[in-house]
Amino acid sequence: MKLLRIVVIVLLLLVGLPVGGSLLMSPPSAGQNIAAELSIPYPAVVAHRGASWDAPEETKPAYLLARSIRAEFLEMDLQRSRDGVLLAFHDDTLERTTNVAEIFPGREKQTIDRFSWFELQRLDAGSWFNKAHPDRARDSFVGEKILRFEDFLEIAEFTTDDYEPGIYIETKAASRFPGIERQMVNILRRRGWMEESRRGRIIFQSFEHESLARLKDLAPEVPRVYLIGSSMADEEGFDELLERASELAEGVGPVGYLAWPWYTGPAHRKGLLIHHYTINAKWQMRLLNFFGSDGFFTDRPDQLMLYYGKDDHIDMRAKFQQIGY
Ligand code: G3P
Ligand code: CA
Repeated sequence: MKLLRIVVIVLLLLVGLPVGGSLLMSPPSAGQNIAAELSIPYPAVVAHRGASWDAPEETKPAYLLARSIRAEFLEMDLQRSRDGVLLAFHDDTLERTTNVAEIFPGREKQTIDRFSWFELQRLDAGSWFNKAHPDRARDSFVGEKILRFEDFLEIAEFTTDDYEPGIYIETKAASRFPGIERQMVNILRRRGWMEESRRGRIIFQSFEHESLARLKDLAPEVPRVYLIGSSMADEEGFDELLERASELAEGVGPVGYLAWPWYTGPAHRKGLLIHHYTINAKWQMRLLNFFGSDGFFTDRPDQLMLYYGKDDHIDMRAKFQQIGY
């Protein structure tokens, strides 16, 4: 009997201390008011590079699929061709996600800004996915093109009565693209994305604080999220980065490793929203949600919609049929 009591006490301490500690350091739903102030959905489902688990990242099917799942935000990485066309693309080079080696042999290591838009349009940005993920391959992905920024916006702008996705735009490697922020903001203004009716449906994000500062000048009305990678936190310290974020942004977007309550709590106490990347597994969603994350960048928006209870059944076969892929 005495032994049982000891075992129970030890178990209670083992479970209770971390759970209680976490709740104290980072109370659940602490970011809800911050999100409400910004009119940003809480908790937020951000389709990272589109529904990129099931379709080639940052291509038309990835974004159409994310739309049909009704993800709250379509996430994209903004870059620019040599001749000034804004486009959606993640990597610095074309090697991993296109057939650049076949079409432009010897140029695999060149960064995307060294290619004209005409050249980029010759590339197949879909077939790599079928080779990398045979279990998710589809013939219809073959020959997908790199998307122009305005093509991406067109996908996001198609509205139904009760749903319009938001856009979550990253100025990627912004220092390589002088003036890219102004160019993007001009397009967004022209297309009505800065209007009050779209408040909370557009967020800017960057790992580069200089880019966020430019965005703050150009479009102060659009919330900004300061992305935090693990090397940044190691080099500069998380608190230092939070300090900077509170001057430049409304939120932070740390890598999932930086979701412990001793990171999440202080971010909220500074009035910052916190969206973690890139969270694909159910156990990560559960754990990070418990630690107080306000939403996730995920390649699997379908899974996150289900996890948050924003949908109770998603038939991916039907979704693919719906988008025509
Ligand atoms: O934008 C959030 C997350 O996408 C940052 O990482 O490398 O996937 O753009 P990355
Ligand atoms: Ca990104």
